[in-house]
Amino acid sequence: MIGALGSIAATVVAGALALGRGLIEGTGMVTEGKPFAGLDLVDVRRLRFGGCDVREGSLVKSVSEVFTTISGVGRNGLTELEPDLAALQDRLCRGTVRNCGEAIAGLVPEAALESRSLVDEVESIRRELRHFAESEGTTRVVVVNLASTEPPLERDPCHDRPEDLEAALVGNRASAVRASTLYAYAAVQEGCPYINFTPSDGALIPAIIRLAAEMGVPVMGNDGKTGETLVKSALAPMFGCRNLRVLSWEGFNILGNLDGRVLNHPDNRAAKIRTKDRVLAGILGYAPHSRVHIDYVPSLEDQKTAWDFIHFEGFMGARMSLQFIWQGYDSLLAAPLVLDLVRLADLAGRRGESGLMPHLASFFKAPLGVSEHRLHEQHQMLLDYVERAKASSA
Ligand SMILES: NC(=O)c1ccc[n+]([C@@H]2O[C@H](COP(=O)([O-])OP(=O)(O)OC[C@H]3O[C@@H](n4cnc5c(N)ncnc54)[C@H](O)[C@@H]3O)[C@@H](O)[C@H]2O)c1
Repeated sequence: MIGALGSIAATVVAGALALGRGLIEGTGMVTEGKPFAGLDLVDVRRLRFGGCDVREGSLVKSVSEVFTTISGVGRNGLTELEPDLAALQDRLCRGTVRNCGEAIAGLVPEAALESRSLVDEVESIRRELRHFAESEGTTRVVVVNLASTEPPLERDPCHDRPEDLEAALVGNRASAVRASTLYAYAAVQEGCPYINFTPSDGALIPAIIRLAAEMGVPVMGNDGKTGETLVKSALAPMFGCRNLRVLSWEGFNILGNLDGRVLNHPDNRAAKIRTKDRVLAGILGYAPHSRVHIDYVPSLEDQKTAWDFIHFEGFMGARMSLQFIWQGYDSLLAAPLVLDLVRLADLAGRRGESGLMPHLASFFKAPLGVSEHRLHEQHQMLLDYVERAKASSA
């Protein structure tokens, strides 16, 4: 996990441990649903966790910060998991903030901002991946990007072909890449299936997707679809079905936690708004007036509220509206999907798939290589894949 001390990563680990101990059920995990029975997915109890972060900290503390804000989970569960969480601490290493922008660099003490060559950065990530695999006695490692959202990366000619990206790395052209590029490149070079759960668009640039296809490594992103956009992709098709014209769709999001703090910086927020913005036009076939607002409200901590106002036109030009409020715990919505994605990426790796995994579109706000944004149709793509996978293993 890249961003291993963050809220989602902490919830992923705590959730998997709690599942393993039978403290919770798999509610919220797609792969625990009926259609997935009989699919050759790794048992969550067999997953082992490790990763990197750029902040100092402990996994126990990260989990405790999430748990104290969540009603219904309670501190008792945490006490039981604490020894296991503490034991995972030595599976964490230091990450890189190369060209991540000032909001992320601000999370790191000045002394830790040492400057190494890009090639050295990549080599160090690759070494850590090999070390983790050796320590756990496994050859199968899935890499998931759960780090803070980076500012958008300006497109560069070196982003298209693997050999040009390689030349940029060797030439130490730091401005052409971000930390997420280095992690994704290193993961693919190590043959690790890779998931970009963040909106950071420096990760799965075309050169890395091509490299993954050439090297037989499955990859997918971008930006987990957990809240407002999930509801949007389920509701927007309804207007099309009834031939109602959406005039405006305004979304107002407020959230606390560290993710909210980083997204409060205009550069980082721009990356998130881009992935959220694509859904409507993709579903409706036209672009209504639509703006997504994201505001940081520290006291909300891990809670997220989205209020969407949809103005639409019906018969005889009558103007009507629909409003919804979505309230959830950011990390509890995301963590089960991360576990699903890890299991499905591992399966894809074992099945010899390579390049993008379009059947995972329903998990992402901006699914790479997929123009289908309607939730139901995306879910059907996953179910069709599951049937194919079961049939081929029978
Ligand atoms: N929670 C959701 O529902 C949801 C949905 C979609 C996407 N996301 C994205 O997932 C990511 C993680 O969310 P979160 O709530 O856990 O955020 P968080 O801020 O709690 O955690 C991010 C972690 O990444 C670390 N980090 C930052 N830059 C890094 C780097 N270059 N290398 C290694 N570690 C780095 C930070 O120190 C922090 O511990 C964010 O990008 C967020 O936008 C979240």
